[in-house]
Amino acid sequence: MKVLLAEHSGFCFGVRRALQMAREAKAAGGEVRTLGDLIHNPRIVRELASEGIVSVEDVTGASGTKVVLRSHGVSKEDLAALRSGGCEIIDATCPYVERAQQLVAAHAEIPVLILGDPDHPEVKGMLSYGNSHTRVLRPGEFPGDGPWKTLCVVSQTTQKLANLQALVQSVLPRCLELIVFNTICSATSLRQEAAVALAKASDLMLVIGGRNSSNTKMLQDLCSRETRSLHIEDAGELTLPDLADAANIGLAAGASTPEEAILEVYNQIFKLMGIPGAVSRFEEIPRYKEESC
Ligand code: F3S
Repeated sequence: MKVLLAEHSGFCFGVRRALQMAREAKAAGGEVRTLGDLIHNPRIVRELASEGIVSVEDVTGASGTKVVLRSHGVSKEDLAALRSGGCEIIDATCPYVERAQQLVAAHAEIPVLILGDPDHPEVKGMLSYGNSHTRVLRPGEFPGDGPWKTLCVVSQTTQKLANLQALVQSVLPRCLELIVFNTICSATSLRQEAAVALAKASDLMLVIGGRNSSNTKMLQDLCSRETRSLHIEDAGELTLPDLADAANIGLAAGASTPEEAILEVYNQIFKLMGIPGAVSRFEEIPRYKEESC
């Protein structure tokens, strides 16, 4: 049995940065709050709470505290409410998300289509920088209107490139001028490509990450097109029947999945199979290279 980890699995740059900024804010003293869970991973949210970095549901729960804006960013309205509530803002909005927000704002005078999940906080934040011409389209949803003199298209940072390409293809024939910004972050594209390459070479993929993590769900969707794929949040969910007939097992993890969670899943596989192979450090998990399967 071979168990390999896809390259680029685990925390992305934006998540690492947000965690570091939150912990530095706490170390500097005072009450620290995050507007919503700092990252979409229950384990990390619990850890942060035990360190005194508590998630609040809305701006009123944060008034007068230091508030860390998570990597997804916040809406313009929430930002204004936090400021008027006397909060000290620690802005951990990922620079990739900030760029997408700024592009929406800069093109707000023309119709802007945002490809993404309208219920996701990142997309809600992006939408708030637009105006009445700005709207959100889910993947696979195409506008029935037009033609447009000028149209702008941007994407949620964790979308699949194929979804953005499909939207562009759908609207292009109805545009005189089409402005497309590829706002899919490179961490997302690299992670998705690596997971798909490993899935193609595996009998079973285990995709590790929070059930509320958009980029983890996207990985699960992509991997399940290539092979049998299970989305699990932690090692405790894995059972022996899950591993049946799997000689080549691939692991992939979302941008908000900590290394410890990946290490635990890796070791749990060997424990359930009753064979040696467990490792003590994340770095010891073998990585997938094209020639290794
Ligand atoms: Fe930023 Fe991309 Fe991570 S947008 S938060 S680096 S998944």
